[in-house]
Amino acid sequence: MGDYRFDNRFHRFPVFSIQRIEPTGDTMIADILVKGCNELHTLSGGKEPRAGKEMRDTGCIKKGALVVKNGEILDIGKSERIEKEYDAAETIDASGKTVVPGFVDPHTHLVFSGSREDELVMKIKGKTYMEILKAGGGILRTVRKTRAASKDELKNEMKKRMDVMLAHGTTTAEAKSGYGLDLENEMKSLEVIREIDHPLELVPTYMGAHALPPEFEDHSEYIDYCCTTVLPAVADIAEFCDVFCEKGVFDADDSMQLLIKAAELGLGIKVHADEIENIGCSTMAAELGAVSCEHLVKSSSKDLKAMAKNGVIGILLPGTPFMLMDNHYSPAREMIESGMAVALATDLNPNCWTESMLMIITLACLQMKMLPEEALTAATFNAARAIGREDIGSIEPGKKADFLILDIPNLMHLPYHFGVNLVDKVFKEGHLQ
Ligand code: NIG
Ligand code: FE
Repeated sequence: MGDYRFDNRFHRFPVFSIQRIEPTGDTMIADILVKGCNELHTLSGGKEPRAGKEMRDTGCIKKGALVVKNGEILDIGKSERIEKEYDAAETIDASGKTVVPGFVDPHTHLVFSGSREDELVMKIKGKTYMEILKAGGGILRTVRKTRAASKDELKNEMKKRMDVMLAHGTTTAEAKSGYGLDLENEMKSLEVIREIDHPLELVPTYMGAHALPPEFEDHSEYIDYCCTTVLPAVADIAEFCDVFCEKGVFDADDSMQLLIKAAELGLGIKVHADEIENIGCSTMAAELGAVSCEHLVKSSSKDLKAMAKNGVIGILLPGTPFMLMDNHYSPAREMIESGMAVALATDLNPNCWTESMLMIITLACLQMKMLPEEALTAATFNAARAIGREDIGSIEPGKKADFLILDIPNLMHLPYHFGVNLVDKVFKEGHLQ
């Protein structure tokens, strides 16, 4: 296991250089100026994911302002200075409001058809997730629906979700395949991610190893099929490869075989690990140089150390235990204290259907005891790094102008004022949505 280590982090993406454009003396004309922000959380400075205590540093400027030109952030600072130095085609007064980077949702199963609301009722009555899956429900039920759907039908269903995501402040999201399983339907799922026309930007992940499809009886044979037939065909469309490494699904050896092949083809590695039982998946992933491990509910202290040591970002998905009515949440405090970088995501799927990173932030703070600053870092800067993006996740000169004006006076309101949409305005690459 320890012989393999692929450093796929930030593969394919150029190193980003940040330049502050110095004013010439006269006022500079910008496209947009947002002034008087009660709190402007810039998340500026540094490229590496923020780990441990650094997660509390959100680069907050009180009475701050930002300037946008050509879809990028041109300058940030105290409103007093910015207002003197810049004129803009459009000026927005954000007095009394809080401005943050657009949310980045680094883990979604966005491409699916249908819904499974009746399974929630079964769970309320006491059935477990695994019992429903073994009886042909759960993922396999969604596979049947997704295989039967045309590309246009899938796009229409996705578009509705993406509209809601954007309205709730998500400006970039990862999207996994994994309800097609065979070559034709995995290709279809990844193609709709690439083709869909929507301001919300998507990052595609191949997750064929999500469940054993009905046409296979043996997990190893299916993994061989994924390695020889599907992965080479999807390697140019997907940026990452993920696997549901879990007891009764794909074990650590099967998962490792797939991930090694994916890494050889230039894909970044992600793993659904330690979600229901701990069968050694996160330590295996850390040794392979995974970019991120997701879920991590049952991870041991040893697993957390292995991930911290290898720079693996822990993507925590508190919506999932919430929807399973399970009181076990990921040990976020221990992760942060052991020096891990943590990100947050919705896990949007038919078992955990939320488009709202705001809801996830509230769950993260209340159920996992993350501080509002840590949760914001996890939902923006670290989330961007977890999907290999360095040009989003912070508000600083040279980065894409993806930001939110929240109708709250300070960051503490973010988990506190819950169950409603706190987003006043969403900007994607400098365009008001
Ligand atoms: O991340 N755990 C595996 N996959 C998804 C659930 C998919 C489904 O139930 O449809 C998850 O929670
Ligand atoms: Fe998931």
